[in-house]
Amino acid sequence: MDYFTDKVALITGSARGIGFAAARLLGGRGAKVVLSDILDDTLAQAQKRLQAEGIAVTAKRADVTVPEECEALVQAALAEFGRLDILINNAGVSIVSNFEEVKPEVARKLLDVNVMGCINMTLAALDALKQARGHVVFLSSVSGIRAIPTGSLYSASKAFLRSLAESLRLELKPYGIHVGVICPGFTTTDPSKTVMKGDGSPRPIGRPAHDTPEGVAKGIARLIERRERERVLTSLGKATAWLQRLSPSLLDRILAGRELKN
Ligand SMILES: NC(=O)c1ccc[n+]([C@@H]2O[C@H](COP(=O)([O-])OP(=O)(O)OC[C@H]3O[C@@H](n4cnc5c(N)ncnc54)[C@H](OP(=O)(O)O)[C@@H]3O)[C@@H](O)[C@H]2O)c1
Repeated sequence: MDYFTDKVALITGSARGIGFAAARLLGGRGAKVVLSDILDDTLAQAQKRLQAEGIAVTAKRADVTVPEECEALVQAALAEFGRLDILINNAGVSIVSNFEEVKPEVARKLLDVNVMGCINMTLAALDALKQARGHVVFLSSVSGIRAIPTGSLYSASKAFLRSLAESLRLELKPYGIHVGVICPGFTTTDPSKTVMKGDGSPRPIGRPAHDTPEGVAKGIARLIERRERERVLTSLGKATAWLQRLSPSLLDRILAGRELKN
């Protein structure tokens, strides 16, 4: 039997991108899937796509920055499927800007989604996950291991998740809960996706991708099945993590003047 058969997986920000790919992969392997996003229409389309593939799926709009909406989302998952085995904290936003050009309210928005969103969702799901002896997954990033210019706030938010996971892993061990962190490299996204400039205005993404949402989804599935602590994706990501451990000052010289494109 597949590891994911009849497991219930809730994925935030799963109307598209990596979250949708993860929902599709886990659902295709027998999981019951709870989709959630702030994009209503895209969420409904995503649900229809998965239903058409024979996946047991429910969908509910929820903004991860609102604790009550996170709690309602978990209750909806329990009402539909009776249990919750896997929480994938995927919803996230990005700022690409020199630090000195970032407005405080834009920084707050990023921290609210990327940091508070994961805190709100994890707190809301903990009781159910304890009962299932389940999994919590955080979408960090290679830039959460090593930040680069114009990515200060995004990288800091992703580094926060790695640190949060360190203590959660130990606190939740007695309950049999696995806490895993996935660190994707640059991954292709929906062509309509934008990131924020420091003033909050949208900026198109113009970076070469090194992975696909489906590739990241496979990494997430392996992280869960093998109950791994952390999985770093892409060759460049692995080399970056290795060099950061070995010689951060050499990486400083390599990365000086480069921009984060996502
Ligand atoms: N793509 C990459 O290269 C890459 C690399 C490393 C890590 N990651 C991380 O992987 C995750 C998924 O990335 P992705 O590229 O698939 O992004 P994506 O295509 O933008 O998908 C993220 C989804 O989350 C939604 N979302 C934003 N704010 C939300 C909120 N407050 N509540 C609920 N949902 C919200 C987004 O809606 P809106 O579009 O309306 O904002 C979007 O539908 C993110 O955490 C990202 O930081 C991505």
